[in-house]
Amino acid sequence: MADLARNNDAGKENQEKSFPLPEIGDHYLVKRSDNALHAAEIIQIRQNESGGQELYVHYEGFDRRLDEWVELERFDLSSKLEDPQSKTGELTILLTDFTDGTDRKITRNQKRKHDEINHVQKTFAEMDPTTAALEKEHEAITKIKYIDKIQFGKYEIDAWYFSPYPEEYGKLSKLWLCEFCLKYMKLEKSFRYHQSQCTWRHPPGKEIYRKGTISVFEVDGKDWKIYCQNLCLLAKLFLDHKTLYFDVEPFMFYILVEVDRYGCHLVGYFSKEKESPDGNNLACILTLPPHQRKGYGKFLIALSYELSIIEGVVGSPEKPLSDLGKLSYRSYWTSVLLDCIHRLGVKVSMRELEKMTSISYTDVVSTLQSLNLIKYWKGSHILCVTPRSIEELHQKVHKRPTLTVEPNCLRWEKPTQRPPVKLAKR
Ligand code: ACO
Ligand code: ZN
Repeated sequence: MADLARNNDAGKENQEKSFPLPEIGDHYLVKRSDNALHAAEIIQIRQNESGGQELYVHYEGFDRRLDEWVELERFDLSSKLEDPQSKTGELTILLTDFTDGTDRKITRNQKRKHDEINHVQKTFAEMDPTTAALEKEHEAITKIKYIDKIQFGKYEIDAWYFSPYPEEYGKLSKLWLCEFCLKYMKLEKSFRYHQSQCTWRHPPGKEIYRKGTISVFEVDGKDWKIYCQNLCLLAKLFLDHKTLYFDVEPFMFYILVEVDRYGCHLVGYFSKEKESPDGNNLACILTLPPHQRKGYGKFLIALSYELSIIEGVVGSPEKPLSDLGKLSYRSYWTSVLLDCIHRLGVKVSMRELEKMTSISYTDVVSTLQSLNLIKYWKGSHILCVTPRSIEELHQKVHKRPTLTVEPNCLRWEKPTQRPPVKLAKR
């Protein structure tokens, strides 16, 4: 986005001329943390502790987790956009018609990957009318994340989205959380006192996996309601599109922890409906930001499929997937399916792949399609690839070691008290 990345000194220019002050709903160019100017909409204005003004902005075309409170210095006050549509148009053109810097147009797949990595969002105009209406309503309710950060164990973590903590907590800029029982507190003082009193050192429920310093606990939402609700409130700070906070009873929670001599430190989790009419084997997944990009997300995804394999069903994650959710799933599906094809040979069928991996037929097809490995022939999808290209793709995917789920470290049986899980819809 070269032209919007003009690195002019907005603060200095602002001082030289006097411009009208920005108002809610206005669009300006605002300097982001990357020091470049981006078109942004003003959502809210507040006074900060020292009496100065802070403005809550949404950067057009970017995921809402990048929305933030900024001070006036970061505005280019000369840049008020009379007709915001024209600026958005400019942005869209820039994003849809880019090259990879070598003057070579990039492929649709590369573009998709670029958009996911850079969190480029669909505009309302690109969505179908129902989705657009739902999106608008969702945005209106959750526009502002008041809670800027949380203290969680030794980490201070920036929040990404709104989370519906009760009123008196929900408007504080920082919350203090016990990393073991997940209780949330307003004051550092209460947090310190709680730390000295709390006897929890691991999640409740049953430990179902242990290998080295990694463990997973299975927690029933019905048995540990408050813990699971607190977990959902915490997770919502990093998830844009989830509505489960209080109705936790129909879910199981799989909590991933790193163990040291002080206790079991939560790094991530996924939730799963006890019964899913849609064949979902995972509802929500989260790796806490300080632990992201170390392979834990793919580990949790792998575990969700391991459980489905034991149950003898196929599964798929609940939709919609977030941008990061899509990246992680696609990466997991790609490596597992390439492994299978590499092992079984290129004659393997989509149905066999589905059966072996518990990855639903639809997800198998879409993954292999994105790798250009599929042809539609006489009414069905068939693999269309040579052993050599599979060898090459396989090597590319496995150049880095991954954190894998060791089946012999997993102690899990399909729970008996609930009725058999139905086979996934196709
Ligand atoms: N930018 C680019 N690529 C990324 C990023 C990023 N910020 N984060 C992860 N990836 C890629 C990784 O490179 C990796 O791919 P690779 O192995 O091919 O290189 C893949 O995504 C997975 O990486 P992991 O380290 O295994 O995943 P991580 O522990 O970071 O967790 C997760 C992924 C759970 C999606 C995390 O980003 C997260 O918690 N995000 C916020 C919540 C969320 O969006 N959850 C999914 C919602 S959808 C649903 O719940 C059904
Ligand atoms: Zn506690």
